[in-house]
Amino acid sequence: MNNQNTFALKGDICFSLDQKHLSVMENAYVVCEDGLCAGVYRELPGRFRGIPCTDTGGALITPGFTDLHLHAPQYSFRGMHMDLELLDWLNTVTFPEEAKYADLDYAKRAYQIFTEDLKNSPTTRACIFGTLHAEATELLMELTEKTGIKAYVGKVNMDRNGPASLQEESAKSSAEATVRWLEETAGKYRNVRPILTPRFIPSCSDELMRELSSIQKAYRLPVQSHLSENPGETAWVRELCPDADFYGDAYDRFGLFGGGQCPTIMAHCVYSSDQEIALMKKRGVYVAHCPQSNTNLSSGIAPVRKFLEEGLCVGLGTDIAGGHSLSMLRAAADAVQVSKLRWRLTDNTQKALTFDEAFYLATMGGGSFFGKVGSFLDGYEFDALILDDSRFPHPQPLTARERLERLAYLDDGGCVAGKYVAGVKLF
Ligand code: GUN
Ligand code: FE
Repeated sequence: MNNQNTFALKGDICFSLDQKHLSVMENAYVVCEDGLCAGVYRELPGRFRGIPCTDTGGALITPGFTDLHLHAPQYSFRGMHMDLELLDWLNTVTFPEEAKYADLDYAKRAYQIFTEDLKNSPTTRACIFGTLHAEATELLMELTEKTGIKAYVGKVNMDRNGPASLQEESAKSSAEATVRWLEETAGKYRNVRPILTPRFIPSCSDELMRELSSIQKAYRLPVQSHLSENPGETAWVRELCPDADFYGDAYDRFGLFGGGQCPTIMAHCVYSSDQEIALMKKRGVYVAHCPQSNTNLSSGIAPVRKFLEEGLCVGLGTDIAGGHSLSMLRAAADAVQVSKLRWRLTDNTQKALTFDEAFYLATMGGGSFFGKVGSFLDGYEFDALILDDSRFPHPQPLTARERLERLAYLDDGGCVAGKYVAGVKLF
């Protein structure tokens, strides 16, 4: 019964069973059969005897990580200009940089660097913002496709409150460019899919939101955007949309806020009201929690414990370049760290996240946006990482769990020694 699509990896295997429980099996096998997980074993069962097996020599083996929110064009200025809050940062740093992607040569140079680093990172699935430029976004899709990572990539829509260099002329021209981009890229890729990407409410007129709503329905697209990130931003949205009951309602009025036909990811949700959280739950809207960005841009700390208790869908995002690190391992550690400060400084009724919970968010939590992704439970798509922590030696033996947690804190981007997406080996 064995065929070449069946193989095993041997090593110290760590994966989430659910939100609270991390399964750790040292010196064990995880089997891939036709792109799907077919069990984790101490000894290979008879039916898998003789299948090809890569012995990692005691490396950690984990599911791939899902980066639910990042901006590819911002990778070029990560770690720079970090002394600003969101709106000043957008106007003085982000918009001028994104405007450069009108130049395809610049876009190519920048996106080659980004996609090369993304390929080598712990990320196997990602939801990526491009810029408003259709050609540069198509280039980003092509380069992302070549990495083998599975991703949603969005051409950004923005028709108001931007600089002349980074704003579409009208709602109509923004919508037309979006449709052209969708038609131009339709069916071209195996790994990359389009996602509708209104930047955030301050960037999108009502007329544009209406246009995007029709496009969403016609093309059955998922949606990604930003929500309730920063005090100045949320106050501005209240001014811009006096009729909306809350920020999320300003999307919902146009049918761009979840529901069965419109899978939606909203980044941040630091200042979401109870009403907003209730609607997100009702509509199945995903929260992309971006702890490093929320720290760098002094945005605040999202109430992730509350989201989990309410039963919301939550994953983690790097939010490059609000966040400076592309490492989703690091994002898991950041999520733990900021949750401790929130517990200490804001609300001591909401316990800090455990590492196991943060690992779940970075793998299974965000992965579920892509289907059965982010675990080694039977039937999950086989996204796997071989993580080599040998360059962080220790004077005593450590357990696999200790090594995994330590790697999340110590990772500087060089630990991924092997990567598989849906059963396909990338390296
Ligand atoms: N809100 C609107 N645009 C952006 C962006 O590029 N980054 C972040 N963090 N928030 C935004
Ligand atoms: Fe963002």
